Amino acid sequence: MTPEPAPTVSQLLAFYLEAGVDCALADEPIDRLAEPEAPAAVKAAVASGEASPPRPVRMPQAAFVAPTAEPSPAPDAAIASAREAARSAASLEVLRDLLEKFDGCALKSTATRLVFADGNPKARIMFVGEAPGRDEDIEGLPFVGRSGKLLDRMIAAIGLDRTKVYIANVIPWRPPGDRTPTPQETQICLPFIQRQIELVDPDILVTLGNPSTQTLLSTGEGIMKTRGRWFEYDTGTRIIRAMATFHPAYLLRSPSYKRLAWQDLRAIAKALPQTTQ
Ligand code: URA
Repeated sequence: MTPEPAPTVSQLLAFYLEAGVDCALADEPIDRLAEPEAPAAVKAAVASGEASPPRPVRMPQAAFVAPTAEPSPAPDAAIASAREAARSAASLEVLRDLLEKFDGCALKSTATRLVFADGNPKARIMFVGEAPGRDEDIEGLPFVGRSGKLLDRMIAAIGLDRTKVYIANVIPWRPPGDRTPTPQETQICLPFIQRQIELVDPDILVTLGNPSTQTLLSTGEGIMKTRGRWFEYDTGTRIIRAMATFHPAYLLRSPSYKRLAWQDLRAIAKALPQTTQ
């Protein structure tokens, strides 16, 4: 049997990209399968003939587990500390600082930076997506990639632009390789986005896509059922009208749903005149 030729570097990179590995976590690669370096004293003893070279030892399984930058607190503790931190924030600036310092979510250690928000903190309408992607992670702003361009067009369709809306995500750090955030990560980040909504205090909240809708509007129904419907979002101090619609990334993949999204936007536009500043 003829052996398969070894892949070229560009084939290997294409394979990684396809598998979602599109960023480096460190400047140098780490060979986690390498034998551990022998201590200097052992090396010297081997060189002088006083000792024989150590026999290779099989590393225990746990030694191959990639270390995380910092151990994150247990989820319950992390959720409790997120709640306490978020509750203590009296302004969006303080909330942002608290998130910058918060170490309870492991996504922080793989993301390049925090993606807090974009737009006008005094806006009467707020859009919330799921989590930043690659472009957002680079720029530090939500919805700046391809789906962001479509979101801009959706916002323009209701006669507004980024200076008149506020945009954020449920999760403020990019999950590695754009994987779906785990339920635990979502629960840890939830108190921060809830406080962010409370501090912006918009008249209309628009949840973009299933994860944001299900998380913020406490529904188990899918986006096909929830889109275009008005919900009540309770901040604890006030009820805000909330509308679910399709995520722009979904609309890019399934353009035939744009017609329904535009219906949702028309309903939002109708509710806007009395509320937009
Ligand atoms: N998708 C999201 O949900 N949020 C972003 O900021 C970008 C893409």
